[in-house]
Amino acid sequence: MNQRVAIYPGTFDPLTNGHLSIIKRALKIFDKLVIAILINPHKSPLFTLEERISMLKEIFKNEVNIEIDSFNGLLIDYAVNKGANIVVRGLRALSDFEYEFQMALMNRKLNRDIQSVFLMTDYKWFYISSTIIKEAARCGGDIKGLVPPIVNEKLKQKFGFNKGV
Ligand code: PNS
Repeated sequence: MNQRVAIYPGTFDPLTNGHLSIIKRALKIFDKLVIAILINPHKSPLFTLEERISMLKEIFKNEVNIEIDSFNGLLIDYAVNKGANIVVRGLRALSDFEYEFQMALMNRKLNRDIQSVFLMTDYKWFYISSTIIKEAARCGGDIKGLVPPIVNEKLKQKFGFNKGV
């Protein structure tokens, strides 16, 4: 049987419940989802690649249809190497649209065999992003319920609100 393998690429610094919702819904459409963290030398993430991989592995340890991986270079080349022809991205407000549209069109120009599929975020996660979560957590804000528990713990540790845990 031909498996429908989709790539869900991103920075995931860190993963939020918005990402989680997209992942759960993508799994209802595709047989396998590869969550692929971009190794981006131009960005200085809060969490190292290893930290992000280990959080994702912990969160999805019981999900047999999810693979956690990282990549550098072009997303479409990575997708081809993984035997996938679908890229999943989540869409929030209007602000996401322009960037996503541009990226999807560039990816399509580079490889017409790869299809970009967009899932609308749930209204509950409409206003959250990794960036705003980090900002709130940095200032000691309570972000429980907006990120998986392990991410909440790691953010508290990073910002010194949970010393000794
Ligand atoms: O979570 P993000 O930061 O919005 O994810 C962006 C990501 C990783 C999907 C995007 O930057 C990407 O695919 N980068 C790899 C290089 C690439 O193929 N770019 C698109 C065509 S130029």
